[in-house]
Amino acid sequence: MKLEIYDTYEEVSERAAAIIAAQIREKPDTVLGLPTGETPIGTYDRLIREYESGKLDFLHVTTFNLDEYYPISPCDVQSYRYFMNQHLFLHVNVPMDATHVPEGSAEDADAACAAYEKAMREAGGVDLQVLGIGRNGHIGFNEPGTAPDSLTHKVTLTQDTIEANSRLFNHISEVPTHALTMGLGTILRAKKIIILITGKNKQNALRQLLSGDADCPASVLCGHSDVTVLCDRAAAEGVTA
Ligand code: GLP
Repeated sequence: MKLEIYDTYEEVSERAAAIIAAQIREKPDTVLGLPTGETPIGTYDRLIREYESGKLDFLHVTTFNLDEYYPISPCDVQSYRYFMNQHLFLHVNVPMDATHVPEGSAEDADAACAAYEKAMREAGGVDLQVLGIGRNGHIGFNEPGTAPDSLTHKVTLTQDTIEANSRLFNHISEVPTHALTMGLGTILRAKKIIILITGKNKQNALRQLLSGDADCPASVLCGHSDVTVLCDRAAAEGVTA
């Protein structure tokens, strides 16, 4: 696992966008695995700027998002589909039918998860997986205790995650209690992985990840051969690269 520490969130975003852009330039039909959350917004903004200045083409790119609340309509402003449309997809030339988010409105969650795995396999697998991290070390919505070989599945969110995510809702009671998420095994199948860890409230998650703490779901990344951790000084206080 490679660790890169930058002074600011902006620099982390710059570096993440540069890695993603280089990947797309090298392999125009790249399959990207993408996260939601506040952390990747700066990265997405930079990718949009690259596209707008004619330096990046998403025409042959395919995307698979990590997770989605369940149940939720894709039109709901709180849905991760809505988030991705607003923060990236509607601003670049990726064909909308090449963008995938787990189907939060599916009647049969298990069938939707199996279909998601099949679609990823048929697309050739994820070339570059971008990750954020929850303050309890979750990646996607894989909470502590998730099996390392798990595939896309329905989960019950922990109280800690519900509380952390409630900042984006009017009231905590509005936060969905379930989600569909790529499993840890799904994530580990990506050829290359970058994980963005920024801000003081992620200090503990970063420390747990670096020490391979089994209580931290992100620790499974220690077993992957091509993982880069991009973090800012606020998250990395006391850590040396
Ligand atoms: C959510 C998402 C994760 C994301 C995490 C951190 O729970 N399911 O994929 O990484 O939040 O979000 P933020 O970047 O807003 O801290």
